[in-house]
Amino acid sequence: MRQQLEQMQKDALAALAGVTTEEQLQALKVRFLGKKGELTSIMKGIGALSSDERPVIGQVVNSVRDCLEESFATCAATLKASLKKAKLQNERIDVTLPGRRSPRGTKHPVTLVVEEICDIFSGLGFLVAEGPEIELDYYNFEALNFPKDHPARDMQDTFFVQDNLLLRTHTSPVQIRTMLQQQPPVRIIAPGTVYRCDYDATHSPMFHQIEGLMVDKGITFGDLKGILTIFTNQMFGNDIGVRLRPSFFPFTEPSAEVDIACVICRGKGCRVCKNSGWLEILGAGMVDPEVFRHVGYDAEKVNGFAFGMGIERVAMLKYGINDMRLLFENDVRFLSQF
Ligand code: DAH
Repeated sequence: MRQQLEQMQKDALAALAGVTTEEQLQALKVRFLGKKGELTSIMKGIGALSSDERPVIGQVVNSVRDCLEESFATCAATLKASLKKAKLQNERIDVTLPGRRSPRGTKHPVTLVVEEICDIFSGLGFLVAEGPEIELDYYNFEALNFPKDHPARDMQDTFFVQDNLLLRTHTSPVQIRTMLQQQPPVRIIAPGTVYRCDYDATHSPMFHQIEGLMVDKGITFGDLKGILTIFTNQMFGNDIGVRLRPSFFPFTEPSAEVDIACVICRGKGCRVCKNSGWLEILGAGMVDPEVFRHVGYDAEKVNGFAFGMGIERVAMLKYGINDMRLLFENDVRFLSQF
């Protein structure tokens, strides 16, 4: 029986050495020390021993049990520690890592250009003015000297809301609204959204313009040219060439279209400027006396100039964008470049 006990102890210790999980440990405990385990079954033989042998074997049983219990406890503690260590290893987080940044938006190129133009003209004493996008025919056309059925209305493909109500086709009606509200001198710049029934690589049914108006005593065409030269120099660079070509607008007389030297080839001729070396950027002219009549200004006492330009066109030239539709597709990969 002593041999049996010693063999069992050896077996148990050998089995314990291979334990890697708590389940295995529990199973061994049941197998060797459990109520129906090996120790219990060996001890059943004690009754058959002589009274001399019994205390001796009893001592062996006790020492084997003590040894096994201690070994099981040690094994349990080691196992627990190593499981905890593994868990800590696996679930380790590096608290020094930077957090995830939420992406930050950027300003739309159209907004950037509007802000830049407004900045330049603010520096020249112009105030920012605004008007409604749904506009009366009267302000959009009539008061700007486009009489009903005048062929110049065909220059702009208009979205009508009702007979006398439309989506403004340009920012020029802000001139009229401003002059009706205040007496000269006037110096305003009016950025805003405008609408025309037109759609291709260089036209969008919704786009942006900025209007300028200056009215005072003794304003000349030279003032117009001077202000626009300051503007183009600041916007496109000091050495950019500027030229004025005669043109026609119902609300200005004389009228001009203003070109800058091609920003791509600097005047040599390329695809963007269609080999002319020049790019048209705005329309301008001296305010027509007929417009002053509509707003009640005395054309004998004051005069002034006005100009208007497309923001998208300026943005495309400034940033080298070749398709206007890119500006409105809202692809952040494109928009975040500016
Ligand atoms: N309103 C014109 C357009 O949309 C642009 C324009 C030209 C505005 C001449 C002006 C101007 O104020 O004087 O085509």
